[in-house]
Amino acid sequence: MKRVIVLLSVVLLAVATDVDAQKVKNLALTPPMGWNSWNHFGCNITEEVIRETADAMVTSGMRDAGYLYVNVDDCWHGERDENGFIQADPERFPSGMKALADYVHSKGLKLGLYSDAGWTTCAGKPGSRGHEYQDALSYARWGVDYLKYDWCDTGGLNAEGAYQTMGRALAAAGRPVVFSLCEWGNNQPWEWAGEIGHLWRTTGDIAACWDCEMDHGDWSSWGVLRILDLQGGLRIHAGPGHWNDPDMMEVGNGMSESEDRGHFSMWAMLAAPLIAGNDLRTMSAATRSILTNREVIAIDQDPLGIQGFKYSNDGDLEIWFKPLADEDWAMCILNRGASSQEVEFSWQYEAVADEFSGRDTLFKARLYRIQDLWTGDDLGTTRQKLVADVPGHDVLLVRLVRLLEVDE
Ligand code: GLA
Repeated sequence: MKRVIVLLSVVLLAVATDVDAQKVKNLALTPPMGWNSWNHFGCNITEEVIRETADAMVTSGMRDAGYLYVNVDDCWHGERDENGFIQADPERFPSGMKALADYVHSKGLKLGLYSDAGWTTCAGKPGSRGHEYQDALSYARWGVDYLKYDWCDTGGLNAEGAYQTMGRALAAAGRPVVFSLCEWGNNQPWEWAGEIGHLWRTTGDIAACWDCEMDHGDWSSWGVLRILDLQGGLRIHAGPGHWNDPDMMEVGNGMSESEDRGHFSMWAMLAAPLIAGNDLRTMSAATRSILTNREVIAIDQDPLGIQGFKYSNDGDLEIWFKPLADEDWAMCILNRGASSQEVEFSWQYEAVADEFSGRDTLFKARLYRIQDLWTGDDLGTTRQKLVADVPGHDVLLVRLVRLLEVDE
């Protein structure tokens, strides 16, 4: 009898776990890559813009460099129909979302949509509150692959509960969807969202500037450095399938080329989702070459999925490290200031160890080849000290490739 009870409890437990199961586990094992309409277009989106963006994703080489999701942000919504099902805006998206998903899929890409846990979205469109299961079903029927879920107009709602409800609705609808939480870090999602979603915003909105605060009245958006400075302490919560999201990128949206390079490099060091936010149809060659730098993308997409950390700072200079697979490391020297700085780094005297990952560079015992990821130059090995000039608002980003044969 006892054995039967034990067996029964095991079965019940298995069923309970299954009912609870929500997040698809084998998605976003590296930080999601793609594009989102908001940073450049705001509410000015149409199905032509999204289709042309999907085309540009292919012709620019971005798809082949790893960008996969084409994400439509706020303002695609029309009204709910008489049964409560959400419809696409008939003027902006006359062919509907199923046709758009089919088009995006035909390009070898995936489609993302945006909704909100509250009654209305941040732009005042219908939110999913009270319609979560219905909306998730519509997304699945249309063939949506990614959902960004915002936090406007949620007065009185519990964040964990609200995101869990949509997570369960997506699971019940049965289509694998990357679930991107966007509650701006207000309720410390890194503490509870790992089982619910695949990525969560850690801060308020980004702005296309290096180090500014843009005051919008009752809220502010933040430049690249401001967002970067808010990531401290969060890296222990990130890993394959669950990422900190410091917001979509502003590369190509008006900063200087060196600032764009610095922004992209630091997002790679943070193992951040690489969601481009510029107009891919008209981007310059310089923007394209930043966004498609495969060596830098490889730092972001490293299979270990370990977020980098700040090792030291001295005035305007910060030195960051990120452990990589095969015992390699990425190192990024960030110059926050406007004037060029000379840097010297004597590897043998630096103890770069990471308690979180248990990794140690062991510079005294190990030799690395130094590869400059922006120029492609070989900068020698860690036997000689590194001497470099880092221009203002820019970085030196290198990969330290471990050499197994040390010929001394
Ligand atoms: C919020 C989000 C942004 C964007 C807008 C859309 O501000 O944080 O990323 O989705 O809403 O209205």
